[in-house]
Amino acid sequence: MCGIIGVISKDNNNVVPDILNGLEKLEYRGYDSAGLAVVGAAGLKRIRAVGKLENLINKLKINPISGAVGIGHTRWATHGKATEENAHPMLTRDVVLVHNGIIENYKELKSDLLKKGYEFTSQTDTEVVAVYLQMELDNGLSPREAFQKMLRTVRGTYAFLAIFKARPDVIFCAKNKSPMAIGFGKSICVGSDASSISASCSEIVYLDDGDYAEVTKDGATFFDDGFNVVDKPRVAVTDDLINSGKGGYSHYMIKEIMEQPSAIRKTLLGNDVPQNFFDKVSRILILACGTSYHAGLVGKYWFEKHLRLPTCVEIASEYRYRSPVIEDDTLVLVITQSGETIDTLEAMEYVKKNNNTCRLAAITNVLNSAISRLAGFVFHTEAGVEVGVASTKAFTAQLTVLAKLAFCENFELLGQLQNLPQACEDSLVLKEDIDKIAFRIKDCSNAIYLGRDNLYPIALEGALKLKEISYIHAEGFAAGEMKHGPIALIDDIVPVICLCPSGSMFDKMFSNIQVAQARGKNVIVFTDFVGAKSFDKSVKKIVLPPINQELYPILYSIPLQLLAYTVTVLKGEDVDKPRNLAKSVTVE
Ligand code: M6R
Repeated sequence: MCGIIGVISKDNNNVVPDILNGLEKLEYRGYDSAGLAVVGAAGLKRIRAVGKLENLINKLKINPISGAVGIGHTRWATHGKATEENAHPMLTRDVVLVHNGIIENYKELKSDLLKKGYEFTSQTDTEVVAVYLQMELDNGLSPREAFQKMLRTVRGTYAFLAIFKARPDVIFCAKNKSPMAIGFGKSICVGSDASSISASCSEIVYLDDGDYAEVTKDGATFFDDGFNVVDKPRVAVTDDLINSGKGGYSHYMIKEIMEQPSAIRKTLLGNDVPQNFFDKVSRILILACGTSYHAGLVGKYWFEKHLRLPTCVEIASEYRYRSPVIEDDTLVLVITQSGETIDTLEAMEYVKKNNNTCRLAAITNVLNSAISRLAGFVFHTEAGVEVGVASTKAFTAQLTVLAKLAFCENFELLGQLQNLPQACEDSLVLKEDIDKIAFRIKDCSNAIYLGRDNLYPIALEGALKLKEISYIHAEGFAAGEMKHGPIALIDDIVPVICLCPSGSMFDKMFSNIQVAQARGKNVIVFTDFVGAKSFDKSVKKIVLPPINQELYPILYSIPLQLLAYTVTVLKGEDVDKPRNLAKSVTVE
């Protein structure tokens, strides 16, 4: 996590506004603190503030700094609390550094540096790198020699940007497992993602693991892990990389919820399944985390039912540590919005190392991300940049791709998929009804979500949405499992949110709801016109438009997202930047 940005002005202009602009785009990666440093007339200058970027901006108004070369950082704390001392950039006498990642051997390096008389002002792993560079400068190495030696010494994951007092014209950059892109245009910029540097750059180079680069206002020199100069291909900045702001909405999350009909429409237009894609595939393994894992669970229902392929869905962070059996002829499908979740990436690497007969494909929202570059085949969810930490449009776009895959031999269902964007559009007008339900939930401490069949994963996802942004403890259950334990949680207060449209599971789900109603007074049902007729006034109902039963998971996700959003707004919490979370999870 953490976002890093570096900017060099070609015309000697002050780069602080560009750094702040980039940090704003990167805040989704962490917002425990923010800081920046520039090379000014008086050497290296740094400013840092705890909390969100606006605190840094306010501090800069009182103590402005400026310079034509600078670096910035937005932090998601790993080592050391969210304090100003632990905020990046880390500054020593002659070098300033920002870092995204984790230095695994920082303890031994620190104890060595302490023995040599060097002092530390923070609890971070990053400061060890800055102090190490200082030591090598003190030993007489040049900035380049010190930087290269440091890269040979540290172990772990990193994207580093460093500026040395002795080379104020250069930003030294290096990457291992944490993302880094270098952009060329009005300025030369380096950032954790393309969106953060797209405002002033028209072309981008993505660094690979082990690469390092020296960036000046004249361009960049790239080195491979043997420190040989290499060429790197430039790609044009495209619209899908650009975060176009909140578009008049009060939060990114609601904007992204509203964008779902168009995201699904665009995703349906592309992503045709290549002929013979499933040839020689005997089973499917899905690897993912969080919301993407829930998409995978829906995929399992669909793949087994429609393709008759045994499908296993694994939480990526667990997968590689339990010596899993990887059978031949497995299609490994990785699902990830960001394309850089480290757990998912590592699980994928594990498969690659342990069975070379497996076909690796990814469903991702970010082309050129680490995972899309590692996968043999990429399905691109056309959701556009997703900024809200709670995934919404990327999730329904992932489901859309999974549906296209699962229904690839079923023309009837492929046809039904075309009805989805309109049905989703119609479901968005339910916001007013959902607002009323939100009032019944906002002061609760717990909530229960129930679903059956392909709506069971959506119960899990609905619960995740609510808990991650509103901090109400919520759990999703397979409705049939209630009687095996969770039913003990039902009382007159706890909301029991039930997904119960008409169709083959209706009667069973209806009975489960009766059982819940017999024990509690706060039962809320999401159903359709046909299903609604079976419920009397004692149940609060939200009535969704009709759609083919196979497509329920996509449609029924939307009102649950709206519910989580509204509850969170009513509680006055920060919808887009919930506490402790970051959008892109690059630490294990
Ligand atoms: O970028 P990814 O899809 O790989 O991210 C996986 C999870 O970190 C992500 O879905 C997370 O659970 C979101 N906060 C859910 O809203």
